Amino acid sequence: MLETHGNKLTWLGHATFKITTPSGKVIVVDPWVDGNPVCPKVAKKLTRVDTVLITHGHGDHIGDAVKIAKQFKPQVISIYETSLWLASKGVKNTTGMGKGGTIKAGEIEVTMVNALHSNGIEDGKKMVYGGEPCGYIVRLPGGLRIYHAGDTAVFGDMKLIAELYEPEVAMLPIGDYYTMGPREAAMAIRLLNVKHVVPMHYGTFPVLTGTPEELKKLTRDISGLEIHALKPGESIG
Ligand code: NI
Ligand code: MN
Repeated sequence: MLETHGNKLTWLGHATFKITTPSGKVIVVDPWVDGNPVCPKVAKKLTRVDTVLITHGHGDHIGDAVKIAKQFKPQVISIYETSLWLASKGVKNTTGMGKGGTIKAGEIEVTMVNALHSNGIEDGKKMVYGGEPCGYIVRLPGGLRIYHAGDTAVFGDMKLIAELYEPEVAMLPIGDYYTMGPREAAMAIRLLNVKHVVPMHYGTFPVLTGTPEELKKLTRDISGLEIHALKPGESIG
């Protein structure tokens, strides 16, 4: 069992998560909601958003960022270059940070960490430089520490993330093709020394073939590990 201290973590499908704090504040990571083919209709209805975290500018992560920003006026956190692009699209409250940095955002604390991926932003017929892709460590009220890896390959410095930030729960991509598959994610779990994992970025499209079952098989020997294979719309806490 994961002690969430009253926080609620809801998977909206793909890499999109909605986090609700005990006081009712809402954080959305990688806002891809309307166009997200696996997000259930009821879960698409957002009523408030206080903070948005963006791991990179690919459409399946940033698809509804501008729309949500204009509707709810949240603080929108991303890497610097992506924040400039968001501002150029009329997003008002942008925070452009860099990897290794930590900021306070309302009642949460956010650290930007590395991710191994790419980050071009398709803007009409142009490809805009979005800076580098990233992941996030988020400290929630009550002290719950979560790690959203973004789109990434496995990398050795996940060990550093474990030592520095001690995440209790990790959202890890397992779909393969664009990111880690289960083989790499199993290694990531060992490097991160994390006991609660929410698999993501699988099953959305036919090429994303990795499954939680495969991941479970590859990590059977890790004592105390819980793989939370949520269905889109389901929550922990
Ligand atoms: Ni991507
Ligand atoms: Mn992606």
